[in-house]
Parts: sequence; C-alpha cells; structure tokens
Amino acid sequence: MMKGIVLAGGNGTRLFPLTSVTSKQLLAVYNKPMAYYPLSVLMLAGVRDILIISTPSTVPVMRNLLGDGSQLGLNLSYAVQQEPRGIAEAFLIGADHIGDDSSALILGDNVFHGPGFAELLREARESLDGCTLFGYPVPDPDRYGIGEVDRAGRLVSIEEKPPRPRSNTAITGLYLYDNEVVEIARGLAPSPRGELEITDVNLEYLRRGRAKLIGLSRGHTWFDCGTHDSLLAAGQYVRFVEKYRGERVACLEEIALRMGFIDAEACYRLGAGMRHSTYGRHLTEIAYALD
Ligand code: DAU
Repeated sequence: MMKGIVLAGGNGTRLFPLTSVTSKQLLAVYNKPMAYYPLSVLMLAGVRDILIISTPSTVPVMRNLLGDGSQLGLNLSYAVQQEPRGIAEAFLIGADHIGDDSSALILGDNVFHGPGFAELLREARESLDGCTLFGYPVPDPDRYGIGEVDRAGRLVSIEEKPPRPRSNTAITGLYLYDNEVVEIARGLAPSPRGELEITDVNLEYLRRGRAKLIGLSRGHTWFDCGTHDSLLAAGQYVRFVEKYRGERVACLEEIALRMGFIDAEACYRLGAGMRHSTYGRHLTEIAYALD
C-alpha cells in the first residue's frame, strides 16, 4: 500500500500580508481551499491513507476543514511541524505513518491538472522502483529544483535553485518514494540554509541509480501557488476550466465518487449540505448521474 503525505506548513512569507493571520494552504484557489488541490492528486493516485502536516496553528483548522476523511472514504491524520525545517522533515515526522510502505509526498501549495493525469499517476505508482519525480517546463528555472535528462531520457542531475540552470525542467512538488526514503531522510544533514532539503533526498536516490523523472508534457498544467502572481494565475486557470470546459478541478467529493471511495447517496448528502454554493449544487447534480 502507498501512504500519502500533504506537507502544508511553512510561514508563507512570500505571500504576506495575505498569510499574516492565516495559512497559505487555506487561501482560495478560485472556489476552494488550496489544500484541496494536492489532496485531490493523492486521491487520484488511489492513495487513501494520508497524513497532513502543518504548523501548530494550522493543524486544528485543517482538521476542522477535512476531519478524519471518512466522509470522502479516506483515512486522514494530522501532525505538527514546529518550524519549517525543510520539506524532507516530512519523512521524520511521518515515519510511523509510512511504516513499511511506499509513500507519495505532495506540497500543499501545488496544483496539478491535465488529461489522463490519474492514469499517469496510477502507472507511476505501479512501476515505482526507488523514486519517481515529475518534471514541468518553467520560464524561471532558478526558482525551483531543476532536473536534467540525457538524450536517452535518463535523469542525470538535480540542482536546487541553480543560479545557472542546466535545463528548464522544474521538479514539481509531487514525489513518489519506496520505503528507503525514511532512512535516507534520517541520514540528511541540514543544508547551508538550515533545512532538510528534498533535493538532497532525490540526489541520494540519483546516486543509487534509482531516480526517475516523468515529464509532464503538453496538456498538463502545474502551479506552485507560492507567489501572488502564481496564486492568482492558478485561480484564473481553475475558473477557466470549470466555467468553459465544464470540468471540475479538485472537487474532492466528485473524485471520491468516481474513485469508488463513496457512493452516490453519500455524495448527494455532502452536496446538499452546501447547496447554496455552486460547488454543493454540482455535487447534488452529478451524484446519481455518475453512478
Ligand atoms: O514547488 C516545487 C518546489 O518546491 C521544488 O521545485 C523545489 O525543489 C523545492 O525545494 C520546493 O521549493 P520552494 O521554494 O517552493 O520551497 P519552499 O521552502 O517554499 O516550500 C514549499 C512548500 O512546502 C511551501 O508551501 C511550504 C511547505 N514547507 C516548506 C518547508 C521548507 C513546509 O511545510 N515545511 C517546511 O519545512
């Protein structure tokens, strides 16, 4: 079984003053809280046992928002990260949750969308051998972890925010790992900026010859909502897709229904509880239509 982790901590300082009294991952991306988007990705990958890690003040709010997950056919648990000591700390905090299983980590501010994404995730999960990363072309590669692949498509280098990037392929905030990730994270030393870097975990898998990069190609969209512009762009994108393509993005109840985690009646009930919003009405409309 694969376990999931949504890492939704950090201070969100790049979004101040928006995040001075609330958490970034609770901000709106168009019509739903940001955290819905990464959670939807894990659900589409068929991952149902998920740990949400956040700051001491945000964990109770997240718990209010999502509960124990049973309404979505999930098993959600929560843990606190006291300080943002690095993305890879998720594997120390989440070691018991992972147990002897493989894991999927997703950053709480990452939005993915594209045709066949669920299928791609399922295949990536089934063929996991070591670590699988997902690349996406960006215009500003010095802002991200960057992967370089050779002509045969093999991953040959990974660098965190390189001043002179070797490619424009960002390594997105979705990471699949076998069980060795816990031991690798335990062996990490903090980087010069004092963090346990996810890039160092990925470099260790690369050294072991067990890191793979899947390029998200044409038709896929990825945002990390870490800046005012990317937050707005993600919201505008979701609005466009939902309004003009008639497709919902990260509608958790609909995904739970499609994945067979809940039945039509449960979906209808969840929608009826929110019937004054278009989100809720959508659920009541599709509940039996999809069945
Ligand atoms: O979004 C993809 C990028 O995420 C990758 O390309 C980079 O390799 C990776 O290092 C990361 O870069 P960021 O500059 O976005 O990292 P940041 O420190 O902003 O953290 C990303 C998210 O994770 C952010 O929403 C807050 C959360 N976080 C971060 C740290 C360091 C935590 O919850 N706890 C932490 O300790």
